[in-house]
Amino acid sequence: MVKLTVDNKPVEIEEGATILAAAAKAGVTIPTLCYNEELSPAGACRVCVVEIACTPKSITVTSCNYPVAEGMVVLTKSENAIKARKLAVEMLMAQHPHSDKIAKLAQTLSMGEPRFSVNSEECILCRLCVRTCQEVVGAGAITFVAQGLERENREAAVVWNQDKCIACGSCAYICPTQAVTLNDNQGTRTICTPSTKMEFKLKACTKCGNHYAPEKQLEYMARTSHLPIEKFDLCPDCRD
Ligand code: FES
Repeated sequence: MVKLTVDNKPVEIEEGATILAAAAKAGVTIPTLCYNEELSPAGACRVCVVEIACTPKSITVTSCNYPVAEGMVVLTKSENAIKARKLAVEMLMAQHPHSDKIAKLAQTLSMGEPRFSVNSEECILCRLCVRTCQEVVGAGAITFVAQGLERENREAAVVWNQDKCIACGSCAYICPTQAVTLNDNQGTRTICTPSTKMEFKLKACTKCGNHYAPEKQLEYMARTSHLPIEKFDLCPDCRD
């Protein structure tokens, strides 16, 4: 076990735990955006930044992926921590002024309008979609491509592989800025991402005729559950 303090509250937690987990154990709430307890941390948005008091100079780190250490002194509301957090949120606001989630974060930090504007990009590269597709769905259809790597020095981006995508819509569900949208219409599911628009056929229930799920998702479920595809012929309402 590791002993540390978070905002002067002593806490003991297992080795390898993150500062965010230690803070929660100490009853201290740290705001987050790209963190999801079901997914591996990405440390992408920097909203959860905290200060670690150490000599000769304290440091600021993202608490969702920074491990605790014996004797660590964590400050979540120090001037440096708040300044760094506000800057992270301000960047996000400037980038995505219409996101309710980001506006709420700004409100909790008593922030006004951002002091600058940047090219409005819907995707904030938080990678929640990448991690959900990989770790929860298991399809691995979304990739984060870092700046310069395989992209001839273009900006970093999140890229969809339509062949691997099973059209489940988890990316649209988890996206905090609605950069990914999903629409079902007349037997077709359309998923729009910042870089591409994809269309998928929806399966019609063999009993009532209602379209109820993407064919690719059902094929994926049949494959991974080793059940015959016919088991997925009926919509949930028509199943016994
Ligand atoms: S919540 Fe920790 S970096 Fe986004």
